[in-house]
Amino acid sequence: TRSAVIVVAAGSGTRLAAGAPKAFVPLAGRTILQHALDGVFAAEPAQVVLVVPAGREAEATEAADGRPVQVVAGGDTRQRSVAAGLAVLADGIDTVLVHDAARALAPAAQFGAVADAVAPGVGAIPALPVVDTLKRVHAGVVIAPVDRAELAAAQTPQGFPRAELEAAYAQAVQRGAEHTDDAALFAAAGGAVHHVPGSEEAFKITTPHDLERARMILAATEP
Ligand code: CTP
Ligand code: MG
Repeated sequence: TRSAVIVVAAGSGTRLAAGAPKAFVPLAGRTILQHALDGVFAAEPAQVVLVVPAGREAEATEAADGRPVQVVAGGDTRQRSVAAGLAVLADGIDTVLVHDAARALAPAAQFGAVADAVAPGVGAIPALPVVDTLKRVHAGVVIAPVDRAELAAAQTPQGFPRAELEAAYAQAVQRGAEHTDDAALFAAAGGAVHHVPGSEEAFKITTPHDLERARMILAATEP
């Protein structure tokens, strides 16, 4: 099989509020996007597509440090950004992994594990068990406990057979449906989605505290 990774990095980073689009925020002397690309390229995909905010294309090409990437401008939702990446996939790619640049420290092994779990009609996502005690709430009132044993926290990269993911995207556009991740979009089109073990390092940098956590992890692992 030949895999491509679409790295979605076109978000604005509203919750991080670091003065730049999130993928271009500094982290230990480099950018979040550069750290994310370390894991992506270590997995040796046949093609890497970077989806970035319009106007940041040249900067994104530089972030790849000479490694081959296709850079395209994203859309105003994550789903539209992924669609922009799908549009430039090379001939011969049969498996697509979609990855959040914001999961800057996702280990390379997670890409391989997800790709291996993709099969005809079957997508794959990394997921972690939920550790918190969860409540269903409404208007300030706890309505009910939620059994966390039947829940999992989804991560990326999320992998799919290329043609089926493209068909699922076409269907979402036709229905005007907006999904928060590719697994939900793929399932809405009738696909099955399996999960493989995720990893703590693949947490999504969302808030300033998450960025601090990433800094501390990198400081602790620096030679
Ligand atoms: N993303 C994207 N295009 C969008 C929105 C999000 O490519 N229109 C990407 C982000 O760059 C990120 C991933 O999707 O790598 C997950 O999104 P999120 O963590 O929500 O990032 P932002 O949307 O940038 O952050 P926020 O929601 O706080 O503004
Ligand atoms: Mg967002």
